[in-house]
Amino acid sequence: EPPNLNTVPPTITSHVVAIPYPGRGHINPMMNLTKILVSKNPNILITFVVTEEWLSFIGSEPKPNNIQFATIPNVIPSEEGRANDFVNFLESVMTKMEDPFERLLDRLEPPPSVIIHDSYLAWVVRVANKRNVPVASFWPMSSSFFLVLKHYQLLEQNEVGDKRVDYIPGNSSIRLVDFPLKDASFRSRRLLQLALATIPWAEKSQYLLFPSIYELEPQAIDVLRQELSIPIYTIGPTIPYLTHNQVVSTNHDYINWLDNQPLGSVLYVSQGSFLSVSSEQIDEIANGLRESGVRFLWVMRGESSNWKNICGDKGFVLPWCDQLKVLMHSAIGGFWSHCGWNSTREGLFCGVPFLTFPIMMDQPLNSKYIVEDWKVGWRVEKEVKVNVLIRRDEIARLVRRFMDLDDYEVKEMRKRARELQQVCQSSIASGGSSENNMEEFLGHILHGAK
Ligand code: UDX
Repeated sequence: EPPNLNTVPPTITSHVVAIPYPGRGHINPMMNLTKILVSKNPNILITFVVTEEWLSFIGSEPKPNNIQFATIPNVIPSEEGRANDFVNFLESVMTKMEDPFERLLDRLEPPPSVIIHDSYLAWVVRVANKRNVPVASFWPMSSSFFLVLKHYQLLEQNEVGDKRVDYIPGNSSIRLVDFPLKDASFRSRRLLQLALATIPWAEKSQYLLFPSIYELEPQAIDVLRQELSIPIYTIGPTIPYLTHNQVVSTNHDYINWLDNQPLGSVLYVSQGSFLSVSSEQIDEIANGLRESGVRFLWVMRGESSNWKNICGDKGFVLPWCDQLKVLMHSAIGGFWSHCGWNSTREGLFCGVPFLTFPIMMDQPLNSKYIVEDWKVGWRVEKEVKVNVLIRRDEIARLVRRFMDLDDYEVKEMRKRARELQQVCQSSIASGGSSENNMEEFLGHILHGAK
């Protein structure tokens, strides 16, 4: 049902419709963006569009009054269905939501001044352009990866492995193995095709927004600004900015556990969706972590209870945590991550160095940036091949050294992570690059987008 907008306060001057991709890692940054917008100007009304199922997941979260939800019917597979067949889920998101979204738009009052969409919902650009409503495309990954997809046709087809290429604009020296490759499994190929199809639509939007920081990928942003004629905005990490006090006041058993661990001693482990990592590999990781003797907090979807014994006394295993609060905690000294773009930004923002274990799509490129460009992490990688099992003894050795506070390289890496944390924080402070970009975008929303 569309929200009842008869009660819209007379001060509302701009109505922004925000439609995220249905998934936590996409809804959160979009919600945070809209919260930032209304905190800067209370005369903006946000209508946040989700499916009915997703409203039941997120509808009760605290939010400012001038952010309201509107729903479209559950025309896509349920969350459970997503885990079983991700390709089908993504195809449905890209094809089935358009009609109900149009019907919703017809009923919204006042008419939207701007639509912000997740670029994966590429059809929103078609809908908005048809109606002459300006549309801002929110690209949920790095701008460097946007360029990889935009110039994917440059990739030489038959080469694989550790050869490095320099021909993707805005990116330097990428190993071929770090590209989302066309010759991988059907699933990866199809996911890649779908991602490639979003690019031309994002380019037809009126604004391109990146949840990123100019200083982290200046070459890519500069190239995009040359290649595209629309405004390109890096709007910052788009995460809620916690302070240490907020962490301390949270009453969760895992936060209590962290409170009792020495400073910087705990490795936080989150491997994203386990569907993409073999159970054999998970077994090696669990045993490797235990053998390392290092303290760790491991978010393990599904059957976490089965792993508790394997992980031993120093491991705290749980199915879900508030990741940002964990990363902000002073006991955390490292982040074993699959390098999703949200996790990457969050780790950077909290000043935590990474052990990278990327799986697919943009994750290997994010890992490359973490390790080679920003120098705030090491790869957990045996050799430049996919699907090579990494054994427990190698994992134990690596983890032990990574968490060794007396190791010179580790000290340097931690220092660098703190420096980058400062870069992230300065970018959202007054006069910083993200803050300036956000203000400029806000100006467009308030004073009539073109
Ligand atoms: C997906 C893709 O996998 C990734 O390649 C792309 O860059 C973004 O979309 P996802 O796998 O969901 O990302 O990982 P990530 O981007 O890291 O997002 C996960 C989000 O869930 C993060 O914001 C993280 O803080 C949160 N999270 C995760 C928790 O709050 N608790 C957890 O226990 C695990």
